[in-house]
Amino acid sequence: AIDPEFEDNRDVVEQHDGHNVWGPVEEPDTLGIHGTHVAVDFDICLADGACLEDCPVDVFEWVDTPDHPESEIKADPAHEDQCIDCMLCVDVCPVDAIDVDPG
Ligand code: SF4
Ligand code: F3S
Ligand code: ZN
Repeated sequence: AIDPEFEDNRDVVEQHDGHNVWGPVEEPDTLGIHGTHVAVDFDICLADGACLEDCPVDVFEWVDTPDHPESEIKADPAHEDQCIDCMLCVDVCPVDAIDVDPG
């Protein structure tokens, strides 16, 4: 499961589409965590797709991650600023790859 303390335990190593990427990142095997308010651990995501289907405000978009060992697409929190904290994505992800912090 994603580390709920990732903001303390990881460093921001790059930006992607307006959100933080928390390392380590070593493509293509290690991709880190994308997002802050809605955070997806790309190294755990296996492209189940439930988060994209269920999010009522369409926070997620698929991105291509060729040659990653778990899956070759990931759910990217491209619109995390639109999140309404319903927590559906956290509940439906079968591998607990998502952390939403209502803060
Ligand atoms: Fe979407 Fe709700 Fe998840 Fe926010 S908590 S990203 S609104 S499903
Ligand atoms: Fe990935 Fe979980 Fe969504 S596996 S596609 S973050 S439901
Ligand atoms: Zn991203």
